[in-house]
Amino acid sequence: MERLVVANWKMNGSIKLVQEFHSLQNNPKTTTIICPPSCYLPLLKPSSFKLGAQNCHQAEKGAFTGEVSPAHLKELGCQYVIVGHSERRTLFQENDSLINQKAAQAIEHGMIPIVCVGETYLERQEGRFKQALLAQMDRALHNLDSQKYVIAYEPIWSIGTGLVPTNKDIEEVLEMIHARLGRSAKIIYGGSVTDKNILTLSQISNLDGVLVGGASLNIKTFQTIIDAF
Ligand code: PGA
Repeated sequence: MERLVVANWKMNGSIKLVQEFHSLQNNPKTTTIICPPSCYLPLLKPSSFKLGAQNCHQAEKGAFTGEVSPAHLKELGCQYVIVGHSERRTLFQENDSLINQKAAQAIEHGMIPIVCVGETYLERQEGRFKQALLAQMDRALHNLDSQKYVIAYEPIWSIGTGLVPTNKDIEEVLEMIHARLGRSAKIIYGGSVTDKNILTLSQISNLDGVLVGGASLNIKTFQTIIDAF
């Protein structure tokens, strides 16, 4: 099984980092996807990796000052686009219905949306995380072909916090998602993935890869994560 290793630079990085990443080495067992801020997309020359975006607008074009359309991303060589990241949901008020439109547009333009879902700390503590995740998936993936997207399971409490669920906890969620969407649905994990915990995470046999935030901003650390598979 080929695993996905996705770098989400968020609103970080620089032209210098872009240049450094041109020496990233491929691991034949993985597909590496770099998602820089969209202004850097034309500067990153995909070689050992593929290009992805961190977000897209739900319309193909129009009077939406400041937005980037899926058609633009496709033209710049993006093959993937992250939609519904929890930062988009909480800081930019994106809901599942909007995320569903974005994912549909990405597919329409020949890209693979990486659709993020994840529970809050409270939902996990109170044992409501399964319902919360299923509800997000049912709305955000409505009417989409499960062969045409990747799901990123990103517990909100683990993003940028250093807290990572146990492999057993992740396996439980994978099991639930597969039961809902079918065995062939691709699911990756994100939230505080580092060069220190990647060997543990890579033991999860039916995990299709990882989404890496902070640890993807350093080429050495990120290379270690790629090489762990
Ligand atoms: P993190 O971010 O690896 O820094 O926790 C992951 C993400 O937000 O996608």
